[in-house]
Amino acid sequence: MRRIVTPEFKTHDEFTEKSLRPQIFKEYIGQKKTVDQLKIFIEAAKMRDEQLDHVLLYGPPGLGKTTLSHIIANEMNVNVKITSGPAIERPGDLAAILTNLKENDILFIDEIHRLNRTVEEILYPAMEDYAIDIVVGKGPGARSVRLDLPKFTLIGATTRVGNLSSPLRDRFGVLLKLELYDNESLREIVHRSSEILDVSVHDNAAIEIARRSRGTPRIVNRILKRVRDYAQVFSDGSISIEIARKALNMLEIDELGLDQVDIKILSTIIENYSGGPVGLDAIAASSGEEKSTVEDVYEPYLLQIGFLNRTPRGRVVTQRGYEHLGKSYVEKNMFDLME
Ligand SMILES: Nc1ncnc2c1ncn2[C@@H]1O[C@H](COP(=O)(O)OP(=O)(O)OP(=O)(O)O)[C@@H](O)[C@H]1O
Ligand SMILES: [Mg+2]
Repeated sequence: MRRIVTPEFKTHDEFTEKSLRPQIFKEYIGQKKTVDQLKIFIEAAKMRDEQLDHVLLYGPPGLGKTTLSHIIANEMNVNVKITSGPAIERPGDLAAILTNLKENDILFIDEIHRLNRTVEEILYPAMEDYAIDIVVGKGPGARSVRLDLPKFTLIGATTRVGNLSSPLRDRFGVLLKLELYDNESLREIVHRSSEILDVSVHDNAAIEIARRSRGTPRIVNRILKRVRDYAQVFSDGSISIEIARKALNMLEIDELGLDQVDIKILSTIIENYSGGPVGLDAIAASSGEEKSTVEDVYEPYLLQIGFLNRTPRGRVVTQRGYEHLGKSYVEKNMFDLME
């Protein structure tokens, strides 16, 4: 199904993402903790005239990992080379990328949890000693040669930090978790993006769009574009609260940003498992979604708005979740939720 509220990247986002993407820290809204830390590390590295330590950015899709890596490169005033885990197929591919880097350059590897094992092993000495070992020759005459690399910074991004091997994770000096955005930050992003898109948005419409964007800037921008279309056709092009509401309802995004898939997940747990506790596998199987999609895309937001709880025995729909779906809630025996 094509979901407008999916936080995952879609090709039609590409044009907007480029123009709306913040280039420097000043333009990057929210994630204060992460930004404050990064600013210090960047400043210190610059004072020492050294490369930045390796950085791992993790968190749900669409929160600004790629954006941040570009900002880091801009603020450090260095080049960034961009690739992704699945794009690097063989150790030789990675060796070629690494040997082409210049001193202090940034190598950005998106979806770093999808690197295959043999490629990953090249990264260990590269990250730790700025060197790679390559085998020259074949058969009994083959020998290993150590090749020095320029001092570079690896920025890894992943939605699934749990899937990273510990040797890889341990080689990052800076680990930063991006959180879902609060509504205030999202509202600011609506205003920033609408200025770039040259469309006027009333503040209460901005708040409405923010509330329905699942804590995710990418969704803010996508919804804003669709609401802008609606305003152009049905009004004078400016976005009032009425226009925003009508457009959002037409897009079938409910007042909390939930769509049919979220509703299906919640109602499956309620109807098939008496509200839980139930494991992720069962939720995925009975709602017809991939387990990883449920875990990375749907669950973080349902947890954030307090519709779902994690217990030692599985996921449980909360009273608020029941009420939102208009179902009557039966209090759970606390002992049922314990191991
Ligand atoms: N802090 C922010 N302030 C303003 N806009 C932002 C911010 N973070 C992200 N955006 C907007 O959201 C879009 C998506 O961000 P980005 O591509 O960096 O997400 P991502 O975390 O890399 O996602 P994925 O996991 O899918 O790769 C950007 O193009 C940008 O326009
Ligand atoms: Mg990205």
